[in-house]
Amino acid sequence: MAHKLLYIETFGCQMNVNDSERIVSMLADLGYAATDDPATSDMILLNTCSVRGGAEEKVYRRLANLRIYKRGGKKQIIAVGGCVAQQEGEELLRKLPYLDLVIGTHNLHLLPNMVRGAERGERRSETTFIDNEQRADLFPAIKGESRLSRFVTVMQGCDNFCSYCIVPYVRGREISRRSTDILTEVRQLADEGVREVILLGQNVNSYGLKTASEPTFAELIHQIAAIDGIDRIRFTTSHPKDMSDELIACFCDVPKLSGHIHLPAQSGSDDVLKRMGRGYGRESYLDKVGKLKALRPDIVFTGDIIVGFPGETDADFEQTLSLMEEVRYIDLFSFIYSPRPRTRAAELADDLSRTVKMARLDRLMELQRRHTREISHTYIGSVMSVLVEGEGKLPGQVSGKADIGRTVNFSGDSSLIGSFADVRIVKAYPNSLLGEPL
Ligand code: SAH
Ligand code: SF4
Ligand code: F3S
Repeated sequence: MAHKLLYIETFGCQMNVNDSERIVSMLADLGYAATDDPATSDMILLNTCSVRGGAEEKVYRRLANLRIYKRGGKKQIIAVGGCVAQQEGEELLRKLPYLDLVIGTHNLHLLPNMVRGAERGERRSETTFIDNEQRADLFPAIKGESRLSRFVTVMQGCDNFCSYCIVPYVRGREISRRSTDILTEVRQLADEGVREVILLGQNVNSYGLKTASEPTFAELIHQIAAIDGIDRIRFTTSHPKDMSDELIACFCDVPKLSGHIHLPAQSGSDDVLKRMGRGYGRESYLDKVGKLKALRPDIVFTGDIIVGFPGETDADFEQTLSLMEEVRYIDLFSFIYSPRPRTRAAELADDLSRTVKMARLDRLMELQRRHTREISHTYIGSVMSVLVEGEGKLPGQVSGKADIGRTVNFSGDSSLIGSFADVRIVKAYPNSLLGEPL
């Protein structure tokens, strides 16, 4: 088969990262190999995110840059996928005459066909949402190169409709994948030598709640933990309101479950949480955090916070800082609120000035840097089990992830890759730890 080259740029969340892997695997069957160089590629695909404003403009700017390559006279397919594609649809083809394909978030299975058409010069946009009944079969597993840690999709979409969020509109209704399919995929991965799986979805802990015949997310974790060869299980993202006692108990009962949880609070103020439509308050969030800490004292938290939500007062913001003090996240992703089309919050007055929002974000990030530093320093001298995934930053080093999700670099040779190594932590950096092998 003729060798063609595919260049992909991925924006946004892990769903997109995972979709990009799936695209690479699907198009390999058509003779496309992945490349890092857009200039010599036969196809360019931007896998886009629209969670915050300016997303569409960013795509236009990036495409404007990239199409320089197309002008070189070479036949090159240009495609946009992901959440901006879903949001804008055919409009993108109309606006951008050099664009060949627009592929929505429910339509990846059509991509091979679309690419064959584009090779013959056809332009096409496919952004129709697919009913949940038909979607159950559209979770193709990824035939990727073997790696130690792999994502496994357990659900897609989101039904929460938090008032600020565009995701339900661009990813569609929530659907849980059949547990039998998930377990088959995990067993296959284990056979290929995968040691860690990361269960993936916008709201994994609502897994199975709408399908009586499926296990709960906690039960699913127990079933996956029973698979030989899989030594570590992570999941992302979980919604605090669906963090059941049963799931919390897994952090004690399932030793294979990683001691890290991403649990986005979004705000520490009850008033703001209410207007965000999150379905929990400050007390109930902190109560869950407290239970997790009691069951697994070494657990680490990461989270997301939105700063400057419409009507956020100084007092509301102080509540967010105090929530951070109580939880003590090891890492926090913080965003300035940005109104999104079709969302309920977009109808509220975006009433805070840019200066106020920036000042709040600065304070929050300053506090977070202190927490990251303080927590990381407590690890110095401790021993961590590291899943060694590759070469480290410096020659003679290898690198991997500790149970708490932190990257650990330590001196060792590449024969360690693929195994778990016990490492003593000797130094803490803002984004990683330095260790020495025991
Ligand atoms: N499903 C995940 C979040 C996916 S979006 C969850 O519920 O936790 C990732 C993050 O982007 C959100 O947690 C939120 O902090 C941020 N975000 C979403 N919409 C936003 C908006 N309109 N403005 C600013 N940040 C936003
Ligand atoms: Fe967006 Fe809320 Fe769904 Fe997360 S749970 S994707 S923030 S609507
Ligand atoms: Fe962005 Fe879509 Fe993910 S909007 S955050 S890429 S689901």
